[in-house]
Amino acid sequence: MSLPTQVSIVDVGPRDGLQNEKQLVSVDDKARLVHLLHEAGLKEIEVTSFVSPKWVPQMGDNAAVMAAIERRADVRYSVLTPNMKGFEAALATAPQEIVVFAAASEAFSQKNINCSIAESIERFAPVVQAAHAAGMRVRAALSCCLGCPYQGEVTPDEVERVVKLLKDVGVDHMSIADTIGVGTPRRTQAVMERALRHFPLHEVSGHFHDTYGQSLANIYASLELGIHRFDASVSGLGGCPYAKGATGNVATEDVVFMLDGLGIETGIELDKLVDAGVFISGVLGRSPVSRVARALLAKRG
Ligand code: HMG
Ligand code: MG
Repeated sequence: MSLPTQVSIVDVGPRDGLQNEKQLVSVDDKARLVHLLHEAGLKEIEVTSFVSPKWVPQMGDNAAVMAAIERRADVRYSVLTPNMKGFEAALATAPQEIVVFAAASEAFSQKNINCSIAESIERFAPVVQAAHAAGMRVRAALSCCLGCPYQGEVTPDEVERVVKLLKDVGVDHMSIADTIGVGTPRRTQAVMERALRHFPLHEVSGHFHDTYGQSLANIYASLELGIHRFDASVSGLGGCPYAKGATGNVATEDVVFMLDGLGIETGIELDKLVDAGVFISGVLGRSPVSRVARALLAKRG
């Protein structure tokens, strides 16, 4: 079976990772993390979210972080925008891509963005239009595609229904998220196949959390389908404030190590990525969660 020869990775650590930390991280440290990710060769970075600071105080410095980044022309910076208010604030900071985020489960939609799935789609329609008018790409992130912390099982039919609604409002890209990390490889493929009915291969990606240790297996299963875009989070930072017990995203270091071993090109330099992880883990007062980072650091001595 032939796997893709190249994979692109969006590092979502600055957003998905840091949104979930108890302690507030300074604007300077967030900007430094983004710069270290540039150094490591990341070409797509999810920087922050324009959500309510009452809901997610960790992202309350969104505009300041966007202003503090020394941008590179070959890097795409993305931000989350749940509604027009968030979009307008984001627009002023000139990201290249915005992310609208919905859920495949009704219960999670209510907890995360305080509205039903249908209402969320209605809110996204003008956001997608305005983003396209401003020349920005729109990625959609769909939570709970493999299980929901409130509802439990989520079927591929439920996922496909929302994928189609997002397609109908015109999003460019579909990111299938396993918010609580319960997915296993064949289930993951079944769900990915539903997304691929509505979006081309290069516009479908996987966003896996490693809560049950399945994320690399799920990435491999996605590669088998030809999927070649994944979200990952440096040092395995992350979780979701509205998904209790959800641990970090799959660590970018772990994904790059596996892809290097498979001979798949990412453009990312593992050693420099480990440095980025060491930096942000130091800010947070812990060691990197990534197994690969730990192993390489032990070798460094
Ligand atoms: P709401 O309370 O229903 O909104 O929140 P509202 O329209 O009634 O407004 C209430 C207040 O919020 C008002 O302020 C608004 O101005 C303000 P007040 O009058 O009370 O002072 N407000 C905003 N402020 C800043 N930016 C905005 C904004 N919108 C309204 N954009 C809302 C609705 C969506 C805003 C809220 O529920 C929210 O912010 N939720 C946060 C959700 C979130 O960030 N979750 C984590 C990210 S998703 C994720 O991690 C999953 C993902 O990684 C994939 C995966 O793994 O599953 C993507
Ligand atoms: Mg996430």
